[in-house]
Amino acid sequence: MYIIFLGAPGAGKGTQAANVAKKRGLTHIATGDLFRQAQEQKTELGLKARSYMEKGQLVPDEITIKMVVERLSATDCRSGAIFDGFPRNLEQAKALDKALAAQGKAVDKVIYIKVSEEELVKRLSGRWICRNCQTPYHEVSSPPRVKGKCDKCGGELYQRSDDTIDTVKQRLKVYFSQTVPLIDYYSRAGKLIEVDGEGAVDKISGRIVSAIGGEKGR
Ligand code: AP5
Repeated sequence: MYIIFLGAPGAGKGTQAANVAKKRGLTHIATGDLFRQAQEQKTELGLKARSYMEKGQLVPDEITIKMVVERLSATDCRSGAIFDGFPRNLEQAKALDKALAAQGKAVDKVIYIKVSEEELVKRLSGRWICRNCQTPYHEVSSPPRVKGKCDKCGGELYQRSDDTIDTVKQRLKVYFSQTVPLIDYYSRAGKLIEVDGEGAVDKISGRIVSAIGGEKGR
């Protein structure tokens, strides 16, 4: 089963994709996390991505698509994956359709996580991320047990450099102009399911799991 999690910056794609991937035994592919890991490791990919991410712009398609297609060819993606933050424009959506079709597969469902703009800004301004395993926390709604440390791996928590007010505004602008057209693209394909992304994290996970349906690992 190949599922896309679509939504604005801060909608909870990463939080929900991690939960649902665990519940359903699917691989979680988060393009933002892959870029941030590449930056931590100071690879060429990380260096190329940094300047775009700092400005709240999309990393060019040729870089992003190549990275995802490579990731998709790994054995842990053979029986399914959740895409978090990809695709982000029509070009990427078409490239994903093509890459999956080459393996005799297709996108099964697209979960559109809907959250108000006011809530998005609140979430992003209080977010902390684990430098090691990328788990997101929020200083009010989901604080770590020990301040500054990840509950899961003990890694150091930090605030993303693109979570400043100005960069968040730019990311939202890019989302509305480039990513929102995908709602129509997948809706026409009969694959889009809208899920209310406000409320308790576990409740939202429950809504998504029932929207996906099927059995674990499928
Ligand atoms: P990326 O890392 O993908 O960022 P994003 O899409 O802007 O999304 P976020 O990670 O900000 O939010 P999220 O929806 O995952 O929310 P989260 O679960 O963390 O991309 C960053 C950059 O990389 C892009 O700007 C671009 O430059 C580049 N990039 C990435 N993909 C690309 C692509 N395909 N093409 C080109 N460039 C690309 O939750 C947010 C906060 O809210 C957390 O603190 C969390 O704890 C809290 N929270 C979550 N759920 C709830 C809830 N129900 N109630 C209260 N708080 C909650």
